[in-house]
Amino acid sequence: MAIQAVIMCPLGTRIRFFAGRKDSSQPALDGLLPGVNDSADKLIRLFEDKTILPHDLVALLGAPSTSQQFFVEPKCRGAPQDGTLGVRDTLFYNQTRGMGQLPKKVFLFPSDLVISQDPRVNAE
Ligand code: HEM
Ligand SMILES: *[C@@H]1O[C@H](CO)[C@@H](O)[C@H](O)[C@H]1NC(C)=O
Ligand SMILES: *[C@@H]1O[C@H](CO)[C@@H](O)[C@H](O)[C@H]1NC(C)=O
Repeated sequence: MAIQAVIMCPLGTRIRFFAGRKDSSQPALDGLLPGVNDSADKLIRLFEDKTILPHDLVALLGAPSTSQQFFVEPKCRGAPQDGTLGVRDTLFYNQTRGMGQLPKKVFLFPSDLVISQDPRVNAE
């Protein structure tokens, strides 16, 4: 996915990738994935545990600039996370922080909201 993400960026370069991890039938431990209702503290810690620092987490969370949700709120299937669905821009950050008019069709994740309010990363 990381390689895919780089290739998809405008001018993104191509990188050789070798998939070498052995398949495993052991389930992963519970509680390692970020939850949509988790606190900012827990979300930041989960990513820090994997060497991704708060500012990098905020950068990665630009992904919802082009996303739609289907399962968090099934009544709003297909709802985008900012007002410019399909356009890779930074509007997601402003709209998550409540700056400017939030289009009605937009569905914000509670996780993005609590992170946007955390003093460690609020400025971004
Ligand atoms: C705080 C961290 C994160 C949380 C709480 C979170 C939460 C979620 C949730 C709840 C969904 C399902 C949405 C739905 O359809 O209802 C989702 C999907 C997805 N997220 Fe995240 N996410 C996080 C970080 C990221 C990051 C950093 C990336 C990539 C840069 C990412 C990429 C994706 C992708 C590609 C999907 C779609 C998967 C699919 O539908 O097949 N997420 N995420
Ligand atoms: C998140 O919280 C909302 C509101 O309380 C609830 O409806 C939803 O089921 C929760 N989702 C998860 C995955 O815990
Ligand atoms: C976000 O808000 C800032 C501060 O008001 C503004 O300078 C910037 O142009 C806005 N960005 C977008 C994409 O609307």
